[in-house]
Parts: sequence; structure tokens; C-alpha cells
Amino acid sequence: MSQQALHNAKALVAREKLDFGLDGELPRWWYDNSPHKSRLIDALQAAFPDGERYFISCVRAFREQTTDPKLLAEIKTFIRQEGQHGIVHSKYNQRLREQGMDVDAIVDFINRNNALHTKHFSKEYNLALTAAFEHFTAMLAEIFFVKKETMANADPKLRAMMAWHAVEEMEHKAVAYDVMQQVAKVGYFMRCAAMVHVIIFLSVLTMRYTNRFLKNDGFSFGQRMWMMAKSRWWLFGYKGVLSSHLGTLFAYFKPGFHPWQQEAIHNYDAWVSTYERTGNPMEAGDALYQAAH
Ligand SMILES: [Fe+2]
Ligand SMILES: [Fe+2]
Repeated sequence: MSQQALHNAKALVAREKLDFGLDGELPRWWYDNSPHKSRLIDALQAAFPDGERYFISCVRAFREQTTDPKLLAEIKTFIRQEGQHGIVHSKYNQRLREQGMDVDAIVDFINRNNALHTKHFSKEYNLALTAAFEHFTAMLAEIFFVKKETMANADPKLRAMMAWHAVEEMEHKAVAYDVMQQVAKVGYFMRCAAMVHVIIFLSVLTMRYTNRFLKNDGFSFGQRMWMMAKSRWWLFGYKGVLSSHLGTLFAYFKPGFHPWQQEAIHNYDAWVSTYERTGNPMEAGDALYQAAH
């Protein structure tokens, strides 16, 4: 069955009130025991609650005009999934604040940008930005959970939280895109311009706030510059975390692109079946990790 046919046959589900034990002990440098890798992912994650609230509002702006009942149902579940992601990531943000991280600087940056984009750009362009951001979040599963080594030395609670988020981002990856194409009628040029905008935005966000978090951790300017250089290599070097997935990223610029042309990760069903059987997102996250290559 093609990915599109598989998607058409399945209804999107929102899972609610998930517990990852975020109230308990969490290591400061939870990823590979590496300050720069942990704080780079933390900087991205800290942006999620307010970023995702913006995605919801951009999609919601076209709900009234949407007539296809399947797409309407998907918008509803998309909003519920993103709402749950916001709740869990806000909890993690609180833990980052307790570690001394300047999370509110990121929250302010995101909200200032959201307000600027909403004020100065059309609602079509804001939706195109959302679809481009959603292409990035849909890649999280492929980036972090296809190869076992990527998550081998990650804290199990945070790994399970990322697994759940990555799985749901993959499930709803086409919702904003379909609204953008079918309802907002955004053309090729605007779609590509929005993706360029998002690539620049995410580069600025991660560089600026990884540096800020490492400063909050007490590292000197020299130490931070060295770490930032290493993190660029980790992302973009040979077999880098991002450079290995540039094909998936840049496919977005193909004229006939649709998110369902890209396969779901091979271990997706391990997460879903374990969650359905146990109702436990920690076990589901572990199953996804164990089933990685
Ligand atoms: Fe999300
Ligand atoms: Fe999303």
C-alpha cells in the first residue's frame, strides 16, 4: 500500500494526558552527556509550545472555508495533538527554567515573531510558514529514531517524550500542507519562499539560543564557540544529523511535492502497537527505539 493510501485508510488520533515522568530526576545534559547537543535540542524544544500555538492559529484561520469532511476532522485532531505537545513541552520548559535556562528569552523571541508575521503577512503566507515548519517537525522521527545509535545515549524519559512528539508530527505532517494547497490555494512560489524563510529562522533560533543556554550553564565565550563549532559539525558534517537528511528537507522544493510521498519510518508501527497495547508512552518510546536499525 502506498503511503498516501495508508494515510487515507487511517484516521488521525490524538492521545491525551501522557506522562513521561518529567517531575522526576532529569539530567542536565541528557543527550550523549553532551552540553552542546543537549542544549541545541533543548533550544528547539523550548520554542515548541508557543510555536505550535501559532501553527494552530494559522490552520484554524482556514477552518471556516474548509468543506472536505476528512480534512476538517484532520484539522480537529491536528489541533488536539499540537495542544497536547504544548502541555508536555511547557512542563519540560519549567524544568529547564529550574536548571537556570533562560527559556523566557526564547518564548519572547517566538511570540514577537509570531505577532510580526501575523501583522505583516497574509494569512496564506502564515499558513505557508506553518506548513514549512511542519515539514521540519515531520523529519524529527527520521532524524532521531531510524538509527539506533542516534538515541543510544539519551535519557529514557526525554527520549520517550521526543518519540511520541516525533510520531505524531509524522502522523499529521500533511494537515497544514493540505489546507495550504486545497483551501488557501497557496502556489509554488509562496510555498518555497516560506521554506527559505523557515530555514533562516530556525538557523538563527538554534544558534542564538544554544549559545544562550550554554552561557546559562556557565561556559565561557571560548568554550561556547568551540562547542558551537562542534555542534555545527554534528549537524552538518560527514554523516551529520541534519546533513544525512537534506534530501528529505529539499524535496519540499520539488514542484509536485506532497508530504505523503515520503515514507513513514520503518519502526512507526512498533510505537503505535505498543501504545495501543499498554497505554504507556514510556514503553512505546522504548519500543520505537528498540526497533530502530
Ligand atoms: Fe507538535
Ligand atoms: Fe505539528
